[in-house]
Amino acid sequence: MKTNEEAFAEAVELLRNASRLVIFTGAGVSAESGIPTFRDKQTGLWAKFDPAELATASAFRKDPDLVWGWYEWRRLLVAQTKPNTAHRAIAALERHVPELILVTQNVDDLHERAGSSDVIHLHGSLQAARCFACSRPYPLRSNDYPDPLPLRSQPPRCARCNGRVRPGVVWFGEALPEQELRKAFQAAKDSDLLLSVGTSGVVYPAADLPNFASRHGANVIHINTEPVDVPAGFILQGRAGEWLVRLLTAAFGHTSQL
Ligand code: OAD
Repeated sequence: MKTNEEAFAEAVELLRNASRLVIFTGAGVSAESGIPTFRDKQTGLWAKFDPAELATASAFRKDPDLVWGWYEWRRLLVAQTKPNTAHRAIAALERHVPELILVTQNVDDLHERAGSSDVIHLHGSLQAARCFACSRPYPLRSNDYPDPLPLRSQPPRCARCNGRVRPGVVWFGEALPEQELRKAFQAAKDSDLLLSVGTSGVVYPAADLPNFASRHGANVIHINTEPVDVPAGFILQGRAGEWLVRLLTAAFGHTSQL
């Protein structure tokens, strides 16, 4: 088993020589912005809330006001925070690596706000609400939150069919957006290095991306505060922001402030 410093030295070489890099992110990347992850024992969303009551289509049918209110609360949390060093380091990597494709499981827009382009959102986006009945997109304004934000809140109605508007995220039991899924797996297949950052790697099919890349010949590096099980590649254990800045500096001499 490598020490963290041995793993770091290997990661620097792999990154410097990468020509097709895929970065695959999870909730740990946004944790340093104050957005709760899902599975951290004390603070994770699924430690406090029951996904069956909030993150399924049947929950929305049963209690749309509760579900819509909960996602509006999450959208407000994101609006009130900023991208962190990890998001900014990932955006900066675009300027150093010949080709970088960013795939995220996160439903926030912090990668985009940090300057990353063409982010593939495998689990949808808090911004991309649509009609539950006819799927027509519903534009959400970024500053239209009631103050104080109530726990429950009636979803808006679709302008075309008057159906209820639902959050634009993938719920348990739903398929991932087809085009995004295809693009992500194609990018993993074509990559020579996949960097998986801040994900527990337990929600499929997204969690298969690192293994799929590895099976097609890519090297895989994971960055995680916990010693998570990794079937492919090796881990840099610690905070995403710290490791990414060290990697950028050591691999590319990146010195501007992040
Ligand atoms: P999880 O909450 O399952 O995992 C977050 C991971 O980030 C954990 O392994 C933490 O150890 C790690 N972590 C926390 N803080 C970190 C930091 N500062 N730096 C590096 N790592 C850190 O979140 P995801 O893996 O993203 O699905 O969860 C996957 C999916 O499960 C989510 O997209 C969501 C959820 O149900 C949907 O919404 C469909």
